Amino acid sequence: MIGLGASGLEVYELCLGGNVFGWTADEVTSFNLLDAYIDGGGNFIDTADTYSQWMDGHVGGESEAIIGRWLSRRGRRDTIVLATKVGKLQTAPGLTAANITAAAEASLRRLQTDYIDVYYAHVDDPTVPLEETLAAFDALVAAGKVRLVGASNYDASRLVEALKVARRDGLAPYGVLQTHYNLVHRHEYEDELAGVCVRENIVCVAYSALADGFLTGKYRRGATLPSSERLEDASLYLTPEHEPVLEALDELAAAHQVSVAAAALAWLSARRGVVPLASARTLDQLGDLLEFQRLRLSAEEIDLLDSRTAVLADV
Ligand SMILES: NC(=O)c1ccc[n+]([C@@H]2O[C@H](COP(=O)([O-])OP(=O)(O)OC[C@H]3O[C@@H](n4cnc5c(N)ncnc54)[C@H](OP(=O)(O)O)[C@@H]3O)[C@@H](O)[C@H]2O)c1
Repeated sequence: MIGLGASGLEVYELCLGGNVFGWTADEVTSFNLLDAYIDGGGNFIDTADTYSQWMDGHVGGESEAIIGRWLSRRGRRDTIVLATKVGKLQTAPGLTAANITAAAEASLRRLQTDYIDVYYAHVDDPTVPLEETLAAFDALVAAGKVRLVGASNYDASRLVEALKVARRDGLAPYGVLQTHYNLVHRHEYEDELAGVCVRENIVCVAYSALADGFLTGKYRRGATLPSSERLEDASLYLTPEHEPVLEALDELAAAHQVSVAAAALAWLSARRGVVPLASARTLDQLGDLLEFQRLRLSAEEIDLLDSRTAVLADV
């Protein structure tokens, strides 16, 4: 388990992504995935009020509503660390105080709970003063509706600025960062954000940990591509430059008898203060991901993956 800063929250080393719930996984499958993740040792579930507004006929909130029905059936709310986000809902975008306050109430209703463990600003909103955004989050913490606030998709300078404002004004600081980070998208986090996170003891929750499925090894150049809602995004990696990383992952997965996906997650998990965040659409896929628990990469194995990926530009 990993502690989220000074919050007292302890999370499992793999956060389960909820954007699939109500999108590529129907409600029954979503419940099964959530049960299997918990049975596998997990406790950290990620969603957002926007999920899955991109789907025809959806307006956002579908993923939260499924998690809410699962939680109400299951009970034992205190054994789950539940994270959701505000700021990207098409009908209520941005990080004004009024939006944050209203969005939190709507998320709490859909999630059928009276508190959110980790509440993220989904994306920076430079049109609203940080003082206003952070004061709105702070009020939610003071009211016991949120335990820890986090930033998602912030760059290093804005994260530093937000930490300064919180310190100066005595407001709850961002205590966790959610950012795009995986073996084939390293620079966004590693170049500047990582230094801030390590210095400030902020855990990085690394989203799209499997590069939309590319790092599971199921997409290969020259082979028939499997059908997936994510094919277009994953196909961006089907270039000669990205082949060496799959070859290295194949080697490590075979040597340790785990899935390619597990090897990719183990690399992230070995980074200081990083918790990978990945989704699965089926129980078999989730089984592959949970194999990461059996794998502790050696320094040489990490070096191998580092050397194959450090040169890649972020896609
Ligand atoms: N903060 C943000 O802005 C932000 C942005 C994106 C995501 N997120 C969060 O991060 C989570 C994870 O990111 P993501 O879902 O976009 O991408 P991801 O975890 O990189 O990729 C997950 C997808 O890969 C495929 N997959 C997973 N395991 C597999 C296996 N063993 N074999 C074959 N295919 C497998 C599945 O898609 P198919 O089977 O459908 O191909 C699955 O939905 C999201 O659920 C969300 O909670 C946050």
